[in-house]
Amino acid sequence: MGKIKIDSNAFTYPMPMTLVGAMVRDRPNFAAVAWVTRVNYSPPMMAVALGKDHHTNPGIHAARAFSVNVPGVDLMAKTDYCGIASGKKTDKSGFFTVFTGEVTGAPMIQECRLCMECLLVQSVDLPGNELFIGEIVGAYADEGCLTDGKPDVTKIDPFTLTMPDNGYWRIGARVGQAWSAGKNVKG
Ligand SMILES: Cc1cc2nc3c(=O)[nH]c(=O)nc-3n(C[C@H](O)[C@H](O)[C@H](O)COP(=O)(O)O)c2cc1C
Repeated sequence: MGKIKIDSNAFTYPMPMTLVGAMVRDRPNFAAVAWVTRVNYSPPMMAVALGKDHHTNPGIHAARAFSVNVPGVDLMAKTDYCGIASGKKTDKSGFFTVFTGEVTGAPMIQECRLCMECLLVQSVDLPGNELFIGEIVGAYADEGCLTDGKPDVTKIDPFTLTMPDNGYWRIGARVGQAWSAGKNVKG
C-alpha cells in the first residue's frame, strides 16, 4: 500500500500516561506526562520531556529528583486534571495520598500501583522542552498488582494517549511473547 505524507507533529502511536512528581518549593506537585520512556538498561534510567514553562521543572532542578507514577484507568480523570491545571495556580499537593521515596525524597502517589523515584542524571535543553534523564533508584508496587513477584500489566491497568485525536486507551489483549515471536522467521 502506498504511503501519503502526514503532519510531522501527528503522533499516533500510543504513549504511556504517567504522573511526574517533584517537590516544588517544599510542596508535592504532579504533572500529567505522556512523553516518557526507559532510556538505559543498567543502571536503569528513564527520561521525561517537560515543557519549559511547567511548574514541575524548577522543582526537579532544585531537588535533582523526580518520580514517575503509573496511574490506572481508575485515576484517568485525576490524571487528566493534573494535565490541565498547573501548580503555578493550583495547589495539587492534596490531590493524592503522597509518600516519599526512601532515596530521593521525591513525592509519589499511593493510589498509583507502580511508582518510581529517580535521581536526576542529566537535563537536556531542547527548543521547547527540557528532557530530564533520571536513574531509577527506587521502584514501588502494590502487592496486589504483582504476578510471581513481577508487575502485571493487567492488574496495573495503565492507559495510553494517542495524539492528535487526544484519546485515552486501555491496554488490549496480549498478542505474543517478545524475544520469541520472531525466532522461527527465516532471514
Ligand atoms: C494527556 C496529557 C498529556 C500530557 N503530556 C505532557 C508531556 O508529556 N509533557 C509535558 O511537558 N506536558 C504534558 N502535558 C501537559 C502538562 O501536564 C500540563 O501543562 C500541566 O499543567 C503541567 O503541570 P505543572 O505546571 O504543575 O508542572 C500533558 C497533559 C495532558 C492532559
